[in-house]
Amino acid sequence: MKTLLFVFGTRPEAIKTAPVILKAQKDPRYRVLVCSTGQHREMIRPLFDFFGIKPDFDLDLMRPGQSLIDISTGVMSGLNKILLENKVDAVVVQGDTTSGFIGSLVAFYHKVQVVHIEAGLRSGDILSPFPEEFNRKGTALISNVHLAPTETAKENLLREHYPPESVFVTGNTGIDALFEVKRKISSNSVLENEFSGKYSFLNPHRKMVLVTVHRRESFGTPMEEVMKGLLELSKRSDIELLIPLHMNPQVRASAAKIFGNQAQWVDKGNFLNPENKIWLCEPVDYVPFIYLMDRAHMIITDSGGVQEEAPSLGKPILVAREKTERPEAIVAGTSRLIPLEQRSFVQVATEVLDTPVIYERMSQAKNPFGDGRASERILDIVHARLNADNPDSEITISNRMGYSEQELTV
Ligand code: UD1
Ligand code: UDP
Repeated sequence: MKTLLFVFGTRPEAIKTAPVILKAQKDPRYRVLVCSTGQHREMIRPLFDFFGIKPDFDLDLMRPGQSLIDISTGVMSGLNKILLENKVDAVVVQGDTTSGFIGSLVAFYHKVQVVHIEAGLRSGDILSPFPEEFNRKGTALISNVHLAPTETAKENLLREHYPPESVFVTGNTGIDALFEVKRKISSNSVLENEFSGKYSFLNPHRKMVLVTVHRRESFGTPMEEVMKGLLELSKRSDIELLIPLHMNPQVRASAAKIFGNQAQWVDKGNFLNPENKIWLCEPVDYVPFIYLMDRAHMIITDSGGVQEEAPSLGKPILVAREKTERPEAIVAGTSRLIPLEQRSFVQVATEVLDTPVIYERMSQAKNPFGDGRASERILDIVHARLNADNPDSEITISNRMGYSEQELTV
């Protein structure tokens, strides 16, 4: 039996590791330990309740306005202590957050194998998304098992000369979680009624556009340009915007500055003016958020996870970023980049809203990111790799710096 220690700290990591943890807990091949770094607090707590996961360790890091250094040093010292006191066969990290990257680094310093879920995403720009592009490349350097969600992600890793026998295509575990939630909502009319009651302030005669923004590289002017574009869009009579606001103080300051009294908060117990066109709310729990995505006419986001989920719900998605490391949805025609400048932002959004042929094409429900079975593949692959006669930790280390043997010998 091998001991896996899952290390993560943010909302999307919890959503995407939960299906793997829940399966591994029932799998006699594994003993499972869970470490929440606490990088997120309010935004992750409901997910532990929802999935029924109780972390064995909680580093409780979250501080308002925390810096990357605060998170990094907290994960380093907290996880170091855990690895000194517990025998672990592999540390499992997901994606590209600072919790995940530093988690993998501490494992490496302890010579514990690293398993990387959602490996191989690349934007090609180390500063965008920041610091995520570096985090995922750094994690790849010290990972023993690279679990790529798509063929494109696998190709990225092979281009960087990671050994083919350590790279596997699994699908994205976020789609496993999404399928589970969709099943829950559609088989439970009480839930459906509860949510439609909660969001009864939305006008059924208007198209609801769901919006989330939180990326660090967009803070300040780019994010405020997006918000100015949203404000302009909200003047249209046929739409209204629902914006669950990320808890980052920088996002909230920009929203207050740009929307001012032209937006209304929905969860403050105040009178909700039916004429209002921009609704702000606290981050929504995962299940009602999927309900809202399903109910939306269109989604505008800079979120990685939302880009992956939207195609399964048949929703056109406008990605408020200069680059995306998830080109699959753009190639499939369900998503499109939208510029971070007010005028061009409004132009692209208006084109999608007002051109039925474009809107219909983007609404085709096909998901290039997964089929809902990533977790079971991952557990089989990890079992095979951890039990291989000749584990790759020594063999492949020389190839991990991104050079092929051929390049090194020329
Ligand atoms: C982090 C990840 C990002 C991921 C995102 C998902 C890094 C560097 N960033 O960014 O990759 O896409 O999570 O949402 O790892 N806050 C709260 N309560 C919470 C969570 C956050 O109050 O539950 C506030 C705090 O003021 C906190 C701030 O938001 O300091 C920023 O949180 P942080 O985790 O540093 O950055 P995110 O933007 O959430
Ligand atoms: N999400 C949620 N509530 C919200 C906004 C997003 O539950 O109010 C979910 C969403 O369905 C997706 C994940 O959170 O699964 C994405 O998280 P986020 O956008 O914070 O991070 P990213 O994916 O960009 O790293």
